[in-house]
Amino acid sequence: MISYSINDGVNGTPTIPGDKSISHRSIIIPSIANGVCEIKNILKSEDVMHTLKAFKAMGVVIENNKKNIVIHGKGLNSLNKPEKPIYLGNSGTSARLLTGLLSSQKFDSVITGDKSLSKRPMSRIADPLSKMNAIIKTSEGKLPLIIEGNKLKSCKIDLKIPSAQIKSGLLLASLNAEGETTITENKITRDHTETMLESFGAKINVKKFDNNKVIKIVGQKELKSRDINVPNDLSSSAFFIVCALINKNSKIILNNINNNPTRNGLILALKRMGAKISIFNNRVNNNEEICDIEVSHSHLHGCELGPEFADLMIDEYPILSVAAAFANSPSIFRGLKELRVKESDRLELIMLNLRNCGVECKTENDDLYIFPSKKYEIKNNVIRTDFDHRIAMAFSIMASRVGPLNIEDSDAIDTSFPTFKDEYNNLGGKLV
Ligand code: S3P
Repeated sequence: MISYSINDGVNGTPTIPGDKSISHRSIIIPSIANGVCEIKNILKSEDVMHTLKAFKAMGVVIENNKKNIVIHGKGLNSLNKPEKPIYLGNSGTSARLLTGLLSSQKFDSVITGDKSLSKRPMSRIADPLSKMNAIIKTSEGKLPLIIEGNKLKSCKIDLKIPSAQIKSGLLLASLNAEGETTITENKITRDHTETMLESFGAKINVKKFDNNKVIKIVGQKELKSRDINVPNDLSSSAFFIVCALINKNSKIILNNINNNPTRNGLILALKRMGAKISIFNNRVNNNEEICDIEVSHSHLHGCELGPEFADLMIDEYPILSVAAAFANSPSIFRGLKELRVKESDRLELIMLNLRNCGVECKTENDDLYIFPSKKYEIKNNVIRTDFDHRIAMAFSIMASRVGPLNIEDSDAIDTSFPTFKDEYNNLGGKLV
């Protein structure tokens, strides 16, 4: 796919798809609840469809209609053994959450994934689960995973890695364990699983302290289903937000965007850089905060962000780095170790691709330094993505200022934002 520069800015109201994290949970939790759930505005991207297919393969009746999805829950411990290994494509969220859930079922199962997912660390979920008596064989810490369904015991777990995926896998495992499990987070990560479990009647108690969060969850007899309306994804909006900020004559409005305080680090960071962003119509739906956002072209300056930002916006560093490349002073983003184990080594690919566009940058330990350029001299217009959707979208936006760039493996965008190209072109962008 080639992305070109934009002359007259971007303008309009793009339609942002449903939130990816909430969409995965909107399939998993109703599938193990009792009753029927109608889900509106679910993201129908490749990643989410892998989660959906997994539950269909385990006997859950799911109607995939044009406008909604209807899930007939099977109850907590009544999934069927899938006939084949469960293939989860590119989706780390599906892999970590399902590992937790499957470890407490009555059958054995195998989880596999694509080339990128097969390189990602899985001991981070298998190890804490083993404290609950889960029996999981990894392939040297990676996929495929062989999971022996087992009766789990509750215990106390201190999360060593700040990861909502690990926390959520443990919470799903705890639903089927005897007694009360306590999970302590030393860094706050996205809380969609806790929020949705609570609204499905789980016995879950969350206490926030200055430096940590303690979640207590009791093994359940049943969860009660209810309907879900998925808000639109701030992480997907991020690409158009930055596009409007860095291109003259731009103004966009984004509606119905999830503004969960455990996810909105990008907005805080961009405002710190001088971005003209206004948040309005704040409201709450299904216990998730939602808002509308207006963004206009802005003269950005660089900023320094501490590691605490990484927990609030881990998926947004590729596009934030593009914004930083057009600021009028350098930026430093600290504590980005987790970026190395995402869909690609994002820290490496951000640096490689920015340098190819003539932007100087470096990493020291896990801190990223970006020194904006005046010239943006393209050294190599082929953007390497390693099949990472967020790298592909971030550098499509980079091209809006320096283009044309040839984005390799742009099909990867379908994992989270299948309509990205159309929405971008409708706004005035040029992607072919
Ligand atoms: C996600 C959590 C994050 C994020 C991923 C989605 C989730 O991963 O990077 O895109 O839905 O729980 P970690 O929690 O492992 O950081």
